[in-house]
Amino acid sequence: MRKGLNWVYSIERTILSEKDIQARVQAIAQQIDLDYQDEEYPIILICILKGAFVFCADLIRCLNIPFEVHFMDVSSYNDGTQSSGVVKIEKDISVNITDRRVIIIEDIVDTGLTLAYLKEFLDGRHPRSLAICTLLDKPEARQAEVQVDYSGFQIGNEFVVGYGLDFAQQLRGLPGISILKPEVYQEDEE
Ligand code: IMP
Repeated sequence: MRKGLNWVYSIERTILSEKDIQARVQAIAQQIDLDYQDEEYPIILICILKGAFVFCADLIRCLNIPFEVHFMDVSSYNDGTQSSGVVKIEKDISVNITDRRVIIIEDIVDTGLTLAYLKEFLDGRHPRSLAICTLLDKPEARQAEVQVDYSGFQIGNEFVVGYGLDFAQQLRGLPGISILKPEVYQEDEE
């Protein structure tokens, strides 16, 4: 079992503060409100667990349009910082999305492999529309093409933690987005 990580010793620096994030989340919510203002039925938000749960919780509290929230648990990482490239659906949604307007809520698009897979998987259920909303985007790391409709921040190709994002299931509770000290994950490679 991995030892507990104390954030004080694990974090190199914070690149996005809680305040930066809240301002961006509000702006994204306003845009979504505008884009879906004339819908007769609630839009379906699919929160991708686990990383997106904090972002989704804040985003829904800024939305004014009618919506439903559903959860899907997807894993693509092992215990470290590298994508395994294999996407596994641990928990599917139970709602029928056929003919509904759907937005996938994701924490970060890195290689894009997870979202490319998910998009194709959910498109197969014939939603009326399927958009992607992510808090973070690492364009330099992209291996699969994905069209992101709502994006909070573009960041460099560095491993980040906090605001729902983890390293080996830890550090999700940090209020901002921070870069991990390389020695924390280098310990894995030794
Ligand atoms: P992708 O398939 O490489 O785009 O990665 C998708 C998932 O990997 C994200 O939803 C995150 O859960 C995780 N991930 C990617 N980059 C990071 C990171 O920098 N920190 C924490 N998790 C990450």
